[in-house]
Parts: sequence; C-alpha cells; structure tokens
Amino acid sequence: MSTVLAIETSCDETACAIVRDGHDILANVVASQVKIHEKFGGVVPEVASRKHLEYIDLVVAEALEEAGLDLEALDGIGVTYGPGLVGALLVGVSTAKALAYAAGKPLIGVHHIEGHIYANFLAHPEICLPAICLIASGGHTNIVEISAPGVYHSLGKTRDDAAGEAFDKVGRALGLPYPGGPKIDALALEHETSLHFPRAVLDHPYDFSFSGLKSAVLNHLNQCQMRGEPAAVPEVARAFQDAVIDVLVDHTMAACEAQGIRTVLLAGGVSANQGLRNAFHEVCRERGYDLFYPPLALCTDNAAMIAAAACAKLDRGETAGLELNAVARLPFSDYIAG
Ligand code: KG4
Ligand code: ZN
Repeated sequence: MSTVLAIETSCDETACAIVRDGHDILANVVASQVKIHEKFGGVVPEVASRKHLEYIDLVVAEALEEAGLDLEALDGIGVTYGPGLVGALLVGVSTAKALAYAAGKPLIGVHHIEGHIYANFLAHPEICLPAICLIASGGHTNIVEISAPGVYHSLGKTRDDAAGEAFDKVGRALGLPYPGGPKIDALALEHETSLHFPRAVLDHPYDFSFSGLKSAVLNHLNQCQMRGEPAAVPEVARAFQDAVIDVLVDHTMAACEAQGIRTVLLAGGVSANQGLRNAFHEVCRERGYDLFYPPLALCTDNAAMIAAAACAKLDRGETAGLELNAVARLPFSDYIAG
C-alpha cells in the first residue's frame, strides 16, 4: 500500500497527480500550455520553463486538495527527471526535491518512457508480462520488451524524427494548427486516398525513420504548388497517416513474433490515434494477441503515469537521493531501473 504524489514537467504540460497502489488515481491535474505554444507552431523551450514555474505550485496544491490529503499522508514523491527540455525538467525536479526534503519522504526519479509504459499498468492492472510496448509520442518512438516489472529491453527506436514529431511537422506543412497529430487523425478517418508515400526500410528490423516520409510529403506539396494546384489536404493526411501506421504496426508485430510474446501495449501521445488503434485491433484479433492501451487522457503527458511508475519503483526500493538532477538526454537503452 503506497500513496505517491508525482510531478511531470518534461515538455509543455505542468502536471501533478496522486496515485495509490499503482492503479488508484486520487488526483490528476494537468495544466496544458498548448494554447500558448500554438501560435509558434511548436513548443518554445524557454517559454515552457517559465510557464512551468508559474503553474507548478498551483498544480501541486490542486492535486493535494483534489485527493483530500496533506504531504504527511504520502509515502513518496515521484518526478520525471529525463528525457525532455532541461529547463522544463528542472522545475519539476527542484519542486519534487523540495517537497521530499520538507516532508521527509523518499524521492523517486522516473524515466519519462517508463512513465508512458506505466499508463498501461495504471489503467489495466490485469496485464500479464512479458509484453512488447510501442511507445510513440512527440519526443519518442521506441519498441520495448518488458519481461518483468522494471525489467526492460530496448528493441528498437527512431533514428531521426519521433512519430508524433512527424505528425506535427506534416500538420504544420498542411496548414493545420499545432499539434497536428489529432487533426491529421480526424481527417484521415473520414477520407480515402490513392496517394502513397514511401515506408522507410532500415538495416535494423525494429528501428524507425520518419524524416524521409516527411520529405516525401513536403515534395508532394511543393509539386502541387508548382503546378498551381491546391493540395488535397485530407488525402495527404490519410496517405501520411497510413504510412506511419504501417511501420509502427509491422515493426511491433515483428518484435512480438521474434520474442515469442503475445501481449501488445501501446503508449504515448500517438497511441491516441484512432487509425493506429484500429490497425492494431485488427492484426491482434487475427493473431489472437492481447492488446492494451491507456484511455485518451493517459496517452498524452500526465503525472498519473509517472506516479504509477513511482509507486512500483518505491515498492521495489528504487529511490533516489536529493542529488537527483534533470537529464535532458536520458537514453532508455542505458536506463537500468533503479
Ligand atoms: O506523449 P505526448 O503528450 O508527449 C511526448 O512525450 O512527446 O505526445 C504528444 C504527441 C504530439 O506529437 C501529438 O501530435 C501526438 O502526440 N498525438 C497524436 C494524436 N494525439 C496526440 N498523434 C496522432 N494521432 C493522435 N490522435
Ligand atoms: Zn510523453
């Protein structure tokens, strides 16, 4: 039985949540900065840090109030310490350290990717390991084998853009508001197309590359412009999304087959994509695999997933010292739970 308060500030959401026993959400507060960054077409790191500073105390106070708890009632303080924007991470890490020190509670450092993975265990405590997890978000695209709680093996990752980053850049080129992912998803669901964009083939079976696809979309848009023809935005959105979904599904299923694993987990902002969920449902139904993904609110960045991961780490005795620092580039492959 442990109750953990956790903070997430790695990108543009200032979030604090309180989770009991790894699956009972007592509070989940997210102050989104999307509206602020929208006018710049992407996240401005310096603005994000300043907004985190402005929001963090309010968000922590709101989470404690929502849960009806004070610091004394907590068993630990969790925080995302990497990867992410260093100035943004520092706000969360400093706040978590101050709370842990003031309340005399253990501090737990969480890798952001482990947090996304735990959104699944938070929503579906019935998941049995081993499992293969596809984490696809604005900053990451990874295939991870989870053989036991806290035991990860990184099987593949993107060599360039993350899947969500590609969605956002293509969205911008199509004139859609930031973030492009949900808008492209909505257009793709309602339109068919005969357009076809290339799927990258790499020398590593589970690695990804999305920069070539992004260039193919930009070339297509330039050609339309040179011909004086308007681009068919919904069709381009559909063809682009189909190309992303194909490689995400193919690589994940290939990893399952090679490792002999029949449980698939999806995580990260891109796992909110309806087309991706439909494609995984179809292939998992055909093969008789179990498929899990978090509810929409737990797919994109939130602190409940960080708190769930922190609960598990606390139970495993994996706590951090007050010297914990923010690490902008914290590779998951080098990350040893603890
Ligand atoms: O997990 P997340 O909130 O932040 C990171 O850790 O990066 O993911 C945000 C990303 C954005 O790139 C956004 O466009 C993408 O998730 N996203 C989607 C959808 N909803 C959010 N991408 C495709 N389809 C969606 N429905
Ligand atoms: Zn994330």
